[in-house]
Amino acid sequence: MSTYLVTGGNAGLGFECARQLASRYAAEHVVIACRDPTRAAQALELFRAQAPSVRFTAVSLDLGSLSSVRAIEARLREAGVVALDAIVLNAGVQTFGPPTATEDGFETTFGVNHLGHYLLTRLLLPLLAPDARVVVVASGTHDPATTDGRFNPPRLRETRAVAWPDRGDTPTMAGIVRYTTSKLANVLFAYALHGRRAELGRPDIAVYTYDPAAVPGTGLVRGWPSWIQRLWRSAIVRWLVARLGTRISTIEASALGMARLAAEPALDVASGAYVQVDRVRESSVESRDPGKQDELWTSSAALLGVPS
Ligand SMILES: NC(=O)c1ccc[n+]([C@@H]2O[C@H](COP(=O)([O-])OP(=O)(O)OC[C@H]3O[C@@H](n4cnc5c(N)ncnc54)[C@H](OP(=O)(O)O)[C@@H]3O)[C@@H](O)[C@H]2O)c1
Repeated sequence: MSTYLVTGGNAGLGFECARQLASRYAAEHVVIACRDPTRAAQALELFRAQAPSVRFTAVSLDLGSLSSVRAIEARLREAGVVALDAIVLNAGVQTFGPPTATEDGFETTFGVNHLGHYLLTRLLLPLLAPDARVVVVASGTHDPATTDGRFNPPRLRETRAVAWPDRGDTPTMAGIVRYTTSKLANVLFAYALHGRRAELGRPDIAVYTYDPAAVPGTGLVRGWPSWIQRLWRSAIVRWLVARLGTRISTIEASALGMARLAAEPALDVASGAYVQVDRVRESSVESRDPGKQDELWTSSAALLGVPS
């Protein structure tokens, strides 16, 4: 039975990815892991109306709560999942205004986008089927050498300082920089996981970093003032952003790229690749630094209380 897990599968790219796993890739069981039971139930209704022969399940997961993440394995077993063919680490937040903290005291963007997914992956490694795939959804905004990332470069000098900005002398980062920093962490994490597969006892799995390009129309900017949200969806901004050299995509095309990495049987992409929608690209210079990958991996493990 082919079974896939998509975090944040109730909305935006994750919803469309889950839908395409069923419709294009003949998934037998698609599990969405969501923080809000009402939104999850609404998504399940839409999926089931479109693909009645596919099994869809929602499991509760709040990436901003380590106790919720730690419960994932039990919840999946309750849902009858014995093995996962791929996990798509898609859920993400972008916040506006002063930093806030997760239940466990980590800065919210870093805690949800990186630390929650790090712990989730470590816990799910034993549940991955042979040759399973891990798709880490990052963003071109992690790369200051591109127009996507030039205006708000990430600032990840030390993992602990980013996770706990209130405990040291780290200057407060704007919401968008907290986001690009968390997305750099996603890329560093994917490379570190790829490099440690044998050590972790899973040399068979493949790990991909996925960059959906810029996709106006999802809920990602919902924490921003309404005029910015309207502007981001407007045709003029799409045109301007594209002219500046940022790749603009649609929800359908970017979700398909994500589903393809998770489920395409004839996929010709090596583990460790960084894929933007449909092509392999090079990620930022900083993300390819083995020392940085190591620091993020080891410090994240220490923050989460798992062996590195
Ligand atoms: N849209 C873009 O232009 C773009 C570009 C590059 C990368 N990305 C990446 O693509 C991914 C999907 O984003 P999107 O654009 O589809 O945004 P979206 O529409 O806002 O979807 C985000 C999903 O993440 C879930 N989520 C947020 N916080 C969570 C938490 N604490 N625990 C569990 N789930 C949580 C949301 O759940 P709720 O519905 O409950 O809030 C929602 O299902 C993100 O990783 C984002 O960084 C997006």
